[in-house]
Amino acid sequence: MCGIVGYIGTKEKKEILLDGLQELEYRGYDSAGIAIIEGVKLNNFKAIGKLKNLREKTKNYTSDGFGISIGHTRWATHGKPTELNAHPHLGAYSYVVHNGIIENYQLLKDELKSEGVGFLSQTDTETIVHLFEKYHNKSNKAFEAFEKTITKLEGAYATLLITEAAADTIFFAKNGSPMLIGFDKNEVYFASSDTPIIGKATEVYYLEDGEYGYAKEGKITLFNSDGKKKFTKQALTANKALAQKDGYRFFMEKEIYEQSRIISETMMGRILDDTIALDELDANFFDGISALKICACGTSYHSALTSAYLFERITKIRCDIEIASEFRYKEPLLTDDTLFITISQSGETADTLEALKMAKRAGLRSLSICNVDNSSIVRESDATILTRAGIEKGVASTKAFATQTMVLWILALYIAQERKSISKEILHKEVDAMIHTPKALIVTDTLHEKLHRLSKRYLHGHGFFFIGRDIFFPLALEGALKLKEISYLHAEGYPAGEMKHGPIALADSELFTIALMPKTMHYEKIKSNVEELSARDATILAISPLPFDLADDFIQTKYDSHPMLEFFEMMVVTQLLALEISVRLGNDIDMPRNLAKSVTVE
Ligand code: AGP
Repeated sequence: MCGIVGYIGTKEKKEILLDGLQELEYRGYDSAGIAIIEGVKLNNFKAIGKLKNLREKTKNYTSDGFGISIGHTRWATHGKPTELNAHPHLGAYSYVVHNGIIENYQLLKDELKSEGVGFLSQTDTETIVHLFEKYHNKSNKAFEAFEKTITKLEGAYATLLITEAAADTIFFAKNGSPMLIGFDKNEVYFASSDTPIIGKATEVYYLEDGEYGYAKEGKITLFNSDGKKKFTKQALTANKALAQKDGYRFFMEKEIYEQSRIISETMMGRILDDTIALDELDANFFDGISALKICACGTSYHSALTSAYLFERITKIRCDIEIASEFRYKEPLLTDDTLFITISQSGETADTLEALKMAKRAGLRSLSICNVDNSSIVRESDATILTRAGIEKGVASTKAFATQTMVLWILALYIAQERKSISKEILHKEVDAMIHTPKALIVTDTLHEKLHRLSKRYLHGHGFFFIGRDIFFPLALEGALKLKEISYLHAEGYPAGEMKHGPIALADSELFTIALMPKTMHYEKIKSNVEELSARDATILAISPLPFDLADDFIQTKYDSHPMLEFFEMMVVTQLLALEISVRLGNDIDMPRNLAKSVTVE
């Protein structure tokens, strides 16, 4: 989704902006731009497509001396991905960048137009710069004009504005979209997440909703609706190593391989002999709770679906799962005996964040399972369990799903342990399986090579059905989502037992069925479901520890002592299958078309 970078100081600004935007590339974008003001020298460059196009356009330009600068990667919401629609947007003497959506922009635009203001773009963002200049032209006071501008905006925004009228100042405001300020001596940085400023700034302040102000002479003056506000900076990590590809062809591939190591980090300090410890949660955190409601989007929603089976089976607590974008508008019945759990890799997904705010307004206790500390969802939640997956750069989520599912499994056992509703023997069995998970996640050369070879038979056909039962149904949904996202082939996840209620009509040799056939869970049932498909000539790729004669292709898995071990091992197979098919199709694996890593618009 859109990304913002800003810098005020004496260093070379073009490189700071372009490097920063590069760090945000993985979020997905379709155009980019920068604007720099040095004294009276004003420069603005924009390009559609990848950042290399912007680099090419700016190759003969360097900025020197003190200046103010802003940059942006845009993922189109209002108006096509064109240069005119790319940020920064220009007024007569000011530039603005913005993430989010200004909901009342049409009204503001109509008003400005009726006053004779001309618009170059179709975006909601351009209204901000014209409003600012309108007020500034009247008062000649830049901050006053900026303050007045943001009071007119409705919706979500994180915005930076620079103007020739105050060539030593960056104006900023945040409401509903993420924004932070980085500090290093007299240098001040802005960004929509911390990756662009890691290694540059040493301290950081994460802006809260409703905060705005300006940066000048290395200092921040901050306001909210109560007036001027003090703030406390915190130290910013300098470790960027995790964000490199480490010799893999794609970030997604690296992230699939990392899962085995990372899952140990997720468990570290939480699995102690035969007990589960979650220091993040107060001893009385679950007091009065008799139901769980989990809300998420996309892959995170699939891990939520998986956990519903675990929660009800292990904790005996009712667990409902909601797609955040549906939950928000269904007028849900919320009671304060329900713990509201959100799951999000980024912690910035707009629908999930808004659902969380709704639940909080209804008085529910909240818990987030998230990969990004200090993200909006984390800050909004009463408690958080971090998934510790490290930065995930591939737009198609892999290690985030694995670590979310692990945290949810841990949480289910923790609740059961605290409520004494699980026997020592069963807890021991579960912990034992957990400890073996890193092994089940190892990618062997043999497996990867086999999937590489096999993938060439799955490049055509009229669609894929991933089928499974119980927790392997959400895994089927996730396998299908992975394939869709990066191969652009049509794939569906389906409960295996439901195929005969309609979809089996599609079965012929051009229908590819990916059958998840665990030994430890309803094997005989799924076997007959797959036999029904085979009888109708569907092409079957079976994934199972048990040989299956009717399969056209067969991947034999190793771990067959616990459903979750089978789950994680099969998850890796589906991820590699999607990867290898998509590589053969020549697609952009890490940045698939039309997708954004972090969906900060609803
Ligand atoms: C996963 O591969 C997706 N690209 C997407 O579905 C993602 O899981 C979803 O947008 C939710 O994101 P979040 O976990 O950051 O909230």
